[in-house]
Amino acid sequence: MCHDGPIHQAKQVFTPSCASCHADHRGAIRLAATGDANCTQCHANLTARGSSTQFVRNVASFESNHPEFAALRPERRDPGTIQLNHYLHLQPNLLGPNGSRVQMACADCHRSAADAGGPWPYGDSKSKTEIPKDLSPGISKNEPSIPVPSRAYMAPATYAQTCAVCHSLQFDKRLADAVPHDKPEVIHPFVVAKLQDYIAAHQADLRVPRDPSRDLPEKPIPADYRLLTPPQWVAERATEDEQLLWRKTCKQCHTLLMEEGSALPKIAPSNITARYMPHANFDHSQHGLVDCASCHAAATTSQQSSDVLLPGIATCRACHHSGAEAAESRCFECHTYHDPAQRKPAHSNFSVADLLARAH
Ligand code: HEC
Ligand code: HEC
Ligand code: HEC
Ligand code: HEC
Ligand code: HEC
Ligand code: HEC
Ligand code: HEC
Ligand code: HEC
Repeated sequence: MCHDGPIHQAKQVFTPSCASCHADHRGAIRLAATGDANCTQCHANLTARGSSTQFVRNVASFESNHPEFAALRPERRDPGTIQLNHYLHLQPNLLGPNGSRVQMACADCHRSAADAGGPWPYGDSKSKTEIPKDLSPGISKNEPSIPVPSRAYMAPATYAQTCAVCHSLQFDKRLADAVPHDKPEVIHPFVVAKLQDYIAAHQADLRVPRDPSRDLPEKPIPADYRLLTPPQWVAERATEDEQLLWRKTCKQCHTLLMEEGSALPKIAPSNITARYMPHANFDHSQHGLVDCASCHAAATTSQQSSDVLLPGIATCRACHHSGAEAAESRCFECHTYHDPAQRKPAHSNFSVADLLARAH
């Protein structure tokens, strides 16, 4: 073996020889197809340098005693802050754009980064769409990030692509405009500018009733009207419109952080998780024949964003087991051994003929 074979873990207490896992007579074509014993020599009774590890220490086989995935263990919640009631949005006859009735599907909100190009049935091309920073190519295998463009994982749902058409950000009944989906400090000047344009064209609106309840048609009380200057009118309307925006419109989906001494709220980070199981590999495109809900059954009934909607190990074991017609269940199917962050550019000395000659 003249390959680069980066180590597995900084904390491993010994380093098995390359040949113990990659012995040529075991079939060089499937370099990765190492027997479980190569892993369980450590993992069935794991010891780590410094003797501490956060990982379960007795994993002997996927079928028998592999632990439930960490994301599914009791008391684990989803840390995301965007409110989304899956059950409600998946009801038949949901009220859609322009009074239509629709039946939403998972793919209306969830697609892999490679499939995110669109069109999105409930998206708004005018809204700004930013690819979240954590979707940039990852290097460390423990870093929860996704190489783009990939079909393996689903990209986080965005407002612009998946909510915009049904949840408008209109801010004043006088105006057809919606605010941009952005930070409050970007929205505030937008609102002010729109109101300035409006009042310049509608000077009559500067006369505002002092107490709308006394503005009865049979008993007009002219003294109870105030005549505002355009800046006064804009300031009053902006305050009222923005209070409604923050406290009603944005708050429907977001957690708002009101800060002492600041007129504008902060929007809590959305925290949508890109990868829930960073210590294993999963690939949605390899499971395309399986209906979304048969792995994510909880998605059809969940009413809280804090619910975890992921399949547990029992779901995987239905197919990944040691039977004849089964999907692969040895460790290498789902885990990598060499830390990709340590990998140098591939530099193989084998030709195809070499590999075929070694494969028996
Ligand atoms: C020489 C001992 C040793 C061998 C052999 C070994 N591991 Fe590990 N492995 C460790 C240690 C030690 C840790 C814990 C590291 C820590 O706590 O930082 C670990 C952690 C892991 C983890 C969790 C952390 C992560 O980075 O994802 C997985 C998954 C894993 N090993 C899979 C495997 C597989 C699959 C094999 C066989 C191809 C294997 N290991 C072979 C020692 C070993
Ligand atoms: C119908 C639901 C919905 C409404 C209403 C909504 N948002 Fe969002 N917002 C989202 C979703 C989903 C995301 C996460 C992905 C994305 O679109 O960037 C998000 C992300 C954000 C972010 C980035 C947060 C981060 O750190 O990830 C900001 C800022 C934001 N929204 C501001 C607002 C403001 C201000 C309002 C009100 C004017 C608002 N949003 C109304 C759904 C909504
Ligand atoms: C096809 C139209 C449609 C799309 C797309 C849509 N929604 Fe909704 N949403 C609705 C309707 C209709 C309601 C009100 C249902 C009711 O109150 O009966 C609603 C209600 C909500 C509520 C309040 C839920 C509750 O439990 O009271 C939240 C929060 C919400 N939507 C978030 C979102 C987010 C976030 C997105 C995008 C990821 C989104 N919606 C996409 C139609 C839609
Ligand atoms: C064979 C089981 C299986 C099927 C079928 C499946 N998923 Fe997943 N899904 C998973 C697993 C496992 C994860 C966790 C992967 C991770 O984050 O490490 C996941 C994660 C997700 C996530 C969170 C983001 C991510 O990719 O980690 C979303 C959203 C999702 N799936 C949606 C879907 C949709 C939509 C479908 C149907 C098109 C689907 N899934 C089909 C197993 C499945
Ligand atoms: C069919 C896929 C699959 C197979 C096969 C598999 N695992 Fe896992 N394993 C997972 C998933 C998914 C996780 C959860 C990863 C996470 O939480 O980030 C996991 C987690 C782990 C962990 C971390 C446990 C912890 O403390 O959270 C270890 C260690 C591990 N596996 C070792 C092994 C070993 C050793 C084998 C072979 C005997 C094996 N796995 C076979 C899918 C698999
Ligand atoms: C209206 C858009 C919308 C639809 C339709 C939708 N989702 Fe989601 N989904 C979201 C949003 C937004 C999030 C992130 C907030 C959260 O965690 O609930 C999410 C989160 C998820 C997650 C990861 C959250 C976790 O903790 O496990 C999974 C898995 C998922 N959805 C699966 C599905 C499946 C499967 C379907 C179809 C049966 C579906 N979703 C339909 C918008 C949607
Ligand atoms: C309906 C059957 C089925 C279920 C359920 C299932 N898988 Fe698979 N999986 C397959 C098949 C078939 C393949 C491809 C053939 C093979 O590798 O044996 C595959 C391949 C994989 C691969 C290799 C992907 C690649 O890049 O080559 C991983 C990793 C994997 N599955 C993990 C999982 C995990 C984790 C679960 C549970 C959350 C799961 N699978 C549930 C049938 C299934
Ligand atoms: C405990 C078993 C084990 C040991 C020891 C081991 N490997 Fe691997 N090796 C694997 C597995 C499993 C894979 C499949 C992909 C991965 O885990 O990175 C692999 C993949 C590879 C690959 C292909 C990487 C790629 O890009 O797909 C090379 C090259 C390699 N090993 C070289 C080595 C060398 C050189 C050594 C000795 C320094 C070594 N291996 C030691 C299990 C092992």
